Amino acid sequence: MDFFVDTADVDDIKSLLETGLLDGVTTNPSLVAKSGRDFLEVIAEICRLTDTPVSAEVSALDAKGMILEGERLAGIAGNVVVKLPLTLEGLKACKHFRRYGVKTNVTLCFTANQALLAAKAGATYVSPFVGRLDDINLEGSHLLGDIRTIYNTYDFDTKILAASIRSPNHVTQAALARADVVTVPPGVLRKLADHPLTKQGIDQFVADWKSTGQSIL
Ligand code: E4P
Repeated sequence: MDFFVDTADVDDIKSLLETGLLDGVTTNPSLVAKSGRDFLEVIAEICRLTDTPVSAEVSALDAKGMILEGERLAGIAGNVVVKLPLTLEGLKACKHFRRYGVKTNVTLCFTANQALLAAKAGATYVSPFVGRLDDINLEGSHLLGDIRTIYNTYDFDTKILAASIRSPNHVTQAALARADVVTVPPGVLRKLADHPLTKQGIDQFVADWKSTGQSIL
């Protein structure tokens, strides 16, 4: 399973790239607004840091506008993935980009039928929003499993990109549902390596090692 980071914060992306564990970046208009920076500049800066996929979302609501914006975004760098909303207009734009070999991430997916349409439109990625379904008392992880079954049944090549991830548990759920990718906020990504028993074990080993008076180097 690939790990993407879900942020428009360039410093976070830089420091997470240094771990060597990052396979891509996703952004959305809310994350760009939070960064307070110019959208096109941020995407260009991220693409200078990494050649992994970087999702950049269109703001138009009609297919024609999405295609124009998507072409502009795709022109920033070869690794830009055009993010399109899961509407009929978005799917039309998706089909267009598939024809021209531009990668797409069809976002705001909340049902298996929507995911089915995204695959039929030739999306590179579909983004089911796990956390937002959990927010309304539904099981986001079940949606991931349903999409996996459908895509495997029909041999669709669209990748399942588990999004709206809010906790380490969501990451486990995405992995168990055999999502291809999970996009995770920086704070949650950092938490994945933590465990109190790991910390306790290290403290103990450090103390015991010191007591031996030895050094490895
Ligand atoms: C996905 O690509 C979105 O950027 C993101 O995961 C949405 O997460 P949220 O529901 O926590 O805003």
